[in-house]
Amino acid sequence: MGEGVLTAPFARVGGHLLAEQVPLTAIASAVGTPTYVYSAASLRSQFARLDAALAGVPHRIHYAMKANGALGVLRVLRAAGAHVDCVSSGELFRARAAGFEPAEIIVGGVGKREDEIDAALAAGVACITAESYEELELISAVALRRGVVAPVAIRVNPEVTVHAFHEYVKTGQAGDKFGIPLGDAAAVITRAHATLPGLRFVALQHHIGSLLTELGPYRAAADKLVALLLALRASAPAAVAQVATLDLGGGFAISYQDEPPVDLRPLTETARAAHAATGCAIAIEPGRFLVAEAGLLLTRVLYRKQGGGREFVVADAGMNDLLRPALYQAHHRIEAVEAVQGERPVDVVGPVCESGDFLARERPLPDVRPGALLAVHTAGAYGFVMSSNYNARPRAAEVLVDGARWGVIRARERHEDLVRGERVDPDWSVA
Ligand code: LLP
Repeated sequence: MGEGVLTAPFARVGGHLLAEQVPLTAIASAVGTPTYVYSAASLRSQFARLDAALAGVPHRIHYAMKANGALGVLRVLRAAGAHVDCVSSGELFRARAAGFEPAEIIVGGVGKREDEIDAALAAGVACITAESYEELELISAVALRRGVVAPVAIRVNPEVTVHAFHEYVKTGQAGDKFGIPLGDAAAVITRAHATLPGLRFVALQHHIGSLLTELGPYRAAADKLVALLLALRASAPAAVAQVATLDLGGGFAISYQDEPPVDLRPLTETARAAHAATGCAIAIEPGRFLVAEAGLLLTRVLYRKQGGGREFVVADAGMNDLLRPALYQAHHRIEAVEAVQGERPVDVVGPVCESGDFLARERPLPDVRPGALLAVHTAGAYGFVMSSNYNARPRAAEVLVDGARWGVIRARERHEDLVRGERVDPDWSVA
């Protein structure tokens, strides 16, 4: 393990499922369940794949940490060479805590508060990506108050037709709330350059969606960004004189079931073409691609029961731990950690008091009994970060495996954590 391309971070050896070289049973015995388990080798290997796809083009890979903000995960990716993309002051705080330097950080987000803009400027991040003219005005005002000139990008909505697995993760179509419509972008930049002295434009960005099953629209969106920059260089050269980066967003797919592995050649071609046409460095913002396959959710079977013609496997992880099946009807492959005979379609459900609380429906699964461990795969992206305390369930532990070593990178929450910051009687004196 370690460097190079890793085929399977979680493999079965002699009937036991391992995370790299560590039996998952050992992790479950030591830290309990539910627990997220991440493979450092997989993180490095996915980073190396993207890095290789951009070889020959000056580039930066800004990991979209919204996918998985665990400090231990951030640390591994930074050591591999990643920069980072934050969408809130909370993420900025985490990125700094994990060791990212301000110059390695870009900050985006569709609704930044003034204090978040101020925090980004105070840290001295490499770029703040604005999503409207009004936001540019605010960034400029905050920068002037600080006595700095803010390095900014605008997020362009290229208005392409996006193919993604769910409506909720499309972001680059006409009518989506994100970014500045392509047709308005040149005017926004020109006007901002003329009237807002607290800004300098350093990049143009787009992000059209997540889990993009085909990269044709991605190429089309990049072409539009290139055309915009070339047009601005002709019409308002001073406004874009310092634009040295085209940020092509994230969204690169991975396979959750048995889809063929993603072909990164369109990314390579898009990056090369965009660089050749503009001389700009290319930035990308991958989240899922780097972390999804590196993680699984380890959960224990509590009960097995039947009702209404269905068979239920009740696990100790639910929608509060992994929301994607309930929210998007997303498929996560599930397997028994210890090999078991037999196979029947079952619903794998959690303990939360909602019928939408399932991890899988009508899924063929071996005859696992109470006490058995299940591995819910491809849970490294948008897993823990979307978890909640619903039903007053403490959030899961997180574990990092690296070769034969493993350790806890986030302790399981305790009941005391559930009431932190609360008081039984309000402090009436405030009002
Ligand atoms: N950049 C921007 C501006 C984004 O909004 C996102 C994701 C990314 C980069 C990273 O996209 P990725 O490479 O991870 O596809 N919760 C959903 C995914 C939401 C994605 C939101 N934005 C899910 O569980 O599938």
